[in-house]
Amino acid sequence: MRDFAPTKRGFVLLLCLLLLPALTGADEGTARRLINAQGCKGCHSLEGSGGNRGPALDGVGRRLTADQIERQLLNPKARNPDSIMPRMTHLSAENLKALVDFLSSRK
Ligand code: HEC
Repeated sequence: MRDFAPTKRGFVLLLCLLLLPALTGADEGTARRLINAQGCKGCHSLEGSGGNRGPALDGVGRRLTADQIERQLLNPKARNPDSIMPRMTHLSAENLKALVDFLSSRK
């Protein structure tokens, strides 16, 4: 039973390594689904597909902080009073976070 503890630790570590990408992947999937379902691509392009009424979302994480991205989603008119972008205040906190996390990681 002496080597039980290290084995258990190894098992927990392995489990974390396996779960971490799965969890991040789930959030990214949510964000990508929202981007399609909320019509973002009617105005924005991402990875080569979508419209050009707004700036491409590729690299947005380099241009804006997570806070600025969240503000743009919740109140586009704060930055540009003539903005044509619809506010995303109807999204749940989890969905909003998934979107902000995903967009901030577009570097
Ligand atoms: C009707 C067109 C339209 C739709 C739909 C739209 N946007 Fe926008 N978005 C814009 C425009 C135009 C801008 C440029 C700033 C402004 O005028 O508000 C913008 C700016 C942004 C920015 C800041 C980009 C930058 O580089 O400064 C982000 C992030 C963004 N939109 C995300 C989204 C997401 C995510 C969705 C879907 C949930 C979405 N937008 C839906 C038109 C739109």
